[in-house]
Amino acid sequence: MFILAPSLLASDFSNLESEIKKVYMDGKGCEYLHLDVMDGIFVKNISFGLPVIASIRKVCDIIFDVHLMIVKPIRYISNFVEAGADMISFHYEACDNVEEVLETIESIRKGDPCGRPVKCSVSIKPDTPVTVLLPFIDKLDMVLVMSVEPGFGGQPFIDKCMDKIRELHKIKTENDYQFIIEVDGGVNFENAKEIKEAGANIIVAGSSVFKSADVKETIERFMGV
Ligand code: DX5
Ligand code: ZN
Repeated sequence: MFILAPSLLASDFSNLESEIKKVYMDGKGCEYLHLDVMDGIFVKNISFGLPVIASIRKVCDIIFDVHLMIVKPIRYISNFVEAGADMISFHYEACDNVEEVLETIESIRKGDPCGRPVKCSVSIKPDTPVTVLLPFIDKLDMVLVMSVEPGFGGQPFIDKCMDKIRELHKIKTENDYQFIIEVDGGVNFENAKEIKEAGANIIVAGSSVFKSADVKETIERFMGV
């Protein structure tokens, strides 16, 4: 599995419906849409939140991959599920107790009547070692490896993160864990192949997709790396 999740952060916010349709392509384009939620505290930026996600949920059936860059994410997990999140990544660095957040997601999952159970993921910043994940790694559907400091699109990929992806992939294969690996930040045509070979299953790309002259061609090129 190697797929592209465009990050809506780099899109034209005055035309969200058409921007989403551009990458979804009536089901022939991207399966995932990455949604960056920023609170101005965990990161030095504010993006969008619950009402926007609930509104764009009506546009199409693309998988909502919600990346929470907010402090104490446990407060809002159920609200994001209700708004339409299919996957929730929250930050290791933003929690008092990661396992408690995972239990919250698990209890929502068990009680979910809609047959679209939310997937759980923990995200780590570039300076956070992958070993912090070990106590609960077997409970994760995904790990999000940040390859830029969270907060802004358009930053360059931090090279040392390539080794973190390799290390995580090694832990995964050696222990036969089932989680998928997502890499987010500074992904472009130059580094996508190496990120894939390091073990990533999903690459997030904001600027490279939405700021490109031909979004369709860009998506096809990413899918073919
Ligand atoms: C950064 C966000 C990323 C960002 C990626 O905090 O988590 O998802 O949108 O943007 P690019 O691809 O432009 O680095
Ligand atoms: Zn993100």
